[in-house]
Amino acid sequence: MLILRTIPELRAWRSSLSPSLSLGFVPTMGALHAGHLKLVEECRRACDAVVVSIFVNPLQFGPNEDLARYPRPFEKDASLCEAAGVDAIFAPEADAFYAKDHATYVDVEGLDRHLCGAARPGHFRGVCTVVLKLFHLVRPRRAYFGRKDIQQFLILRKMAADLALDIDLIGVDTVRETARGAEGLALSSRNAYLSEEQRGAATALYRGLARARDAHRAGERDAGILKSLIRAEIGASPLARVDYVEIVAESDLRPVEEVPAVMAVAVFYGTTRLIDNVAV
Ligand code: PAF
Repeated sequence: MLILRTIPELRAWRSSLSPSLSLGFVPTMGALHAGHLKLVEECRRACDAVVVSIFVNPLQFGPNEDLARYPRPFEKDASLCEAAGVDAIFAPEADAFYAKDHATYVDVEGLDRHLCGAARPGHFRGVCTVVLKLFHLVRPRRAYFGRKDIQQFLILRKMAADLALDIDLIGVDTVRETARGAEGLALSSRNAYLSEEQRGAATALYRGLARARDAHRAGERDAGILKSLIRAEIGASPLARVDYVEIVAESDLRPVEEVPAVMAVAVFYGTTRLIDNVAV
């Protein structure tokens, strides 16, 4: 497995590949877990070679967010990638990836107004800018993203459609904890910030979503009632501070009164903000 640290190194390696090779790409910010490894596995199954980027992208963090403390266990990440059959890691330094006078950004208008976009201004602009730049450098045939970050996935898919990128964006289902006391918690690099008590309380996100999904299966179609089921489950713990509980259309992420839709939640436990979603 190659470790490419600079843009010229990545470009040289990319140019050495046969044009007929189907290259798969998994963009990450590192601190890899089983959710990322599932993306790699899907990518390996469908593509001839796999590149993983590991880059904590400063553009997508707000001024009061966790850029400085975001975990960066590079050696462990590299071992996991090697064991998963990754061909190359691209792990640039932020100063070399963005010039000091970097001034070009990608905005996907509209979809970023809802859900996480409302609470994290500029976040999706940072995500789209880094992903488009990575796409230009890596030139993949397919790219893999977790559906846990459903808004990110839908925004990137819209960017790819609007800019006529010749890349298939694949959304992969959320991987959940099976460990006792944490069952159902969606895997996220940010789970590492949680105390044992917060981790236990955070299992309510999926419990609430699953309860609403079950109610939907039993015939409930009123979005207000489904949301109150989710809120009741999450709100049972005093450790939870709900940012949003929404039921939105997958097409435009606007709140809907009736399903089918995506049920999405964002909840703080201390200073850690967790998200999750389930489609109905
Ligand atoms: O989902 C992530 O880890 C990041 O937002 C991404 C897509 C790698 C862009 O930095």
